[in-house]
Amino acid sequence: SSSLIEQAKQKAAYQAVDEHVLPSHRVIGVGSGSTVVHVINRLLQRDPELNAKTVFVPTSFQSRGILLDGGLKVGDVEQYPNVDVTIDGADEVDSQLNAIKGGGGAHLQEKVVAEAANKFVIVADYRKDSKLLGEQWTKGVPIEVVPFAWRAVQKKLQDMGSKDAELRMAVAKAGPVVTDNGNFLIDAPFGLIREPAQLLKDLKLITGVVEVGLFCNMAEIAYFGCEDGSV
Ligand code: A5P
Repeated sequence: SSSLIEQAKQKAAYQAVDEHVLPSHRVIGVGSGSTVVHVINRLLQRDPELNAKTVFVPTSFQSRGILLDGGLKVGDVEQYPNVDVTIDGADEVDSQLNAIKGGGGAHLQEKVVAEAANKFVIVADYRKDSKLLGEQWTKGVPIEVVPFAWRAVQKKLQDMGSKDAELRMAVAKAGPVVTDNGNFLIDAPFGLIREPAQLLKDLKLITGVVEVGLFCNMAEIAYFGCEDGSV
């Protein structure tokens, strides 16, 4: 049920904050999505004085908004290239901690802020936990593309075996989703992904691709809230 899922997200987020955000940390990367809302809530709950000494680096319009609404200080990776820890959600995580991200279309900034961090931590509910990528998340690998190149990239993806690669369309608009960076998104299904790092390399070599929603060998740890209330 939706309340079980929400509880799972919250427990994963709280535990990740408690175990990975230290009092010495000054710069914290904050991912996007519904699970990171609980990350912010926990940080504020633990230390109401947080704002005096900590800067937060958001990864999307959405995450920037949550931080500003919480009265927190925001910065970017240009000002703060050394992030202590980045905590983010994911769409699916495999048994090696490779992840699919970009269901919310924010994976370019998410990857930059994750790579800027000393430590990258994933928080998610039980629906995201799988053995192989593509098991649970069947919509495909989110790929951010430069708008004018989208058809050329789609064709390359189809040639690579993703025959259902589709431009992501907006819901309340007759047209494509436009990312925070002004680009389009293609969702490219590849079935079960046995070698995500290799697929990532192949996809990044397509001209016109800005970033691929495969996060390989990046996460140090992932917290999954389970249906039974454990983490
Ligand atoms: C955004 O592009 C995604 O990568 C999100 O991190 C992902 O969709 C997780 O969101 P939830 O926490 O809402 O599931």
